[in-house]
Amino acid sequence: MAVDATKAASLAHANTNDLDPWFMPFTPNRAFKQEPRLLVSAEGMYYTTKEGRKILDSSAGLWCVNAGHGRKRIVEAVQAQVATMDFAPTFQMGHPGAFELASRIAALAPPGLDSVFFANSGSEAVDTALKIALAYHRSRGQAERVRFVGRERGYHGVGFGGISVGGISGNRKMFGSMLPYVDHLPHTHNLQEMAYSRGQPEWGAHLADDLERICALHDPSTIAAVIVEPVSGSTGVLVPPVGYLEKLRAITEKHGILLIFDEVITGFGRLGKAFASEYFGITPDMMTIAKGMTNATVPASGVVLKQDIYDGLMNGPEWGIELAHGYTYSAHPLAVAAGLATLDVYKEEGLFERAAGLAPVMEDAVHSLKGEPHVIDIRNIGLMAAVELAPIPGQPGKRGYDAFLKAYEAGVYIRLSGDTLAFSPPLIAEKEHFEVMVETLRKVLQTLD
Ligand SMILES: Cc1ncc(COP(=O)(O)O)c(C=O)c1O
Repeated sequence: MAVDATKAASLAHANTNDLDPWFMPFTPNRAFKQEPRLLVSAEGMYYTTKEGRKILDSSAGLWCVNAGHGRKRIVEAVQAQVATMDFAPTFQMGHPGAFELASRIAALAPPGLDSVFFANSGSEAVDTALKIALAYHRSRGQAERVRFVGRERGYHGVGFGGISVGGISGNRKMFGSMLPYVDHLPHTHNLQEMAYSRGQPEWGAHLADDLERICALHDPSTIAAVIVEPVSGSTGVLVPPVGYLEKLRAITEKHGILLIFDEVITGFGRLGKAFASEYFGITPDMMTIAKGMTNATVPASGVVLKQDIYDGLMNGPEWGIELAHGYTYSAHPLAVAAGLATLDVYKEEGLFERAAGLAPVMEDAVHSLKGEPHVIDIRNIGLMAAVELAPIPGQPGKRGYDAFLKAYEAGVYIRLSGDTLAFSPPLIAEKEHFEVMVETLRKVLQTLD
């Protein structure tokens, strides 16, 4: 086929009207395909739809485009890399950029977390962290540490490890029995005690004490790791109560249990610091990272772990593989190029500090929605905020979904989680973007059933 004909055929395909073959993720496929919402380009704070409408991105895509869309420096770095070396194996081989990216991420991470294992998605990072925890304990003669403790309403992706330690019943119920030996802490959200908190709620540190109950029940010497999001994102921005994370750290340390912070959302400036661990001043044993790591231009993720854990795994003959784990695309050259350029952008534009400065602006803007119809809670920390609506009796999630659709019609994309609407804009947002987000949602709330 002549080149032009091939191109024409592929363009025709790109514009196909047949929406059936793509089984879409986390989407009501039947409803979507009746009234699709198609995005075709993105720049700065905005998407453009197939119809040519501009849509304000109040959620940085999926909490991931922290430096805003279409960043020239990142685009050019990826373009240059694909033309130079499209792929390089990382099993028994390496490429310089991957070592540089690991060093730079380790330098951003809390002291002691000096080793980075690369994967491609948050889900893979979570599975990797859980496996490292098991392997580490086993390698130091504590093979009986096989249990994990997650938390209700935690989201750790969709691998079997992630849904097992995760605490979202909708993500678990269809998929059988999952990993054995998993227990869960209670979630920390309580409308009676903490509705409309600004930043960390004062109430709720005692909920971490439940870890002592779990330890007593199972015997702490059987527990490998506790995994939590420092701030739960996907279930609607659940901010940890004052003192809660400190307690988790103290209890895990006391019992020799590893503490894993899932920083897939909270990493790379979302709270105005490189990581939530820095924001809260608590150092976990491992952190999972993804999303903002490459500004989402190329899928990438990783586990940042304590040097002690890495050292503990360096056993056996020197020619032998120490951890039988990895992905074909671990440290993919395009992801590495995107990651390095992304870190440059964050640093040169001071975006983490910018986010810290914007946080109070966003806080005031979202809390101005208190008193609007259906609103039962508003919460926020850093550049994350959520507005929770009362569910329609018997139809949980429907009111939130209707609000999401109406906001999109009005030109704002807001992340939906049940009846909660979440804002997590790119860190380049300006004051007027917050006004548009909030005033659009206000109008939507006034027209909702
Ligand atoms: C805290 C957390 N962990 C893990 C994941 C899973 O990441 P991915 O969708 O890249 O697998 C997410 C995704 O939103 C997340 O928020």
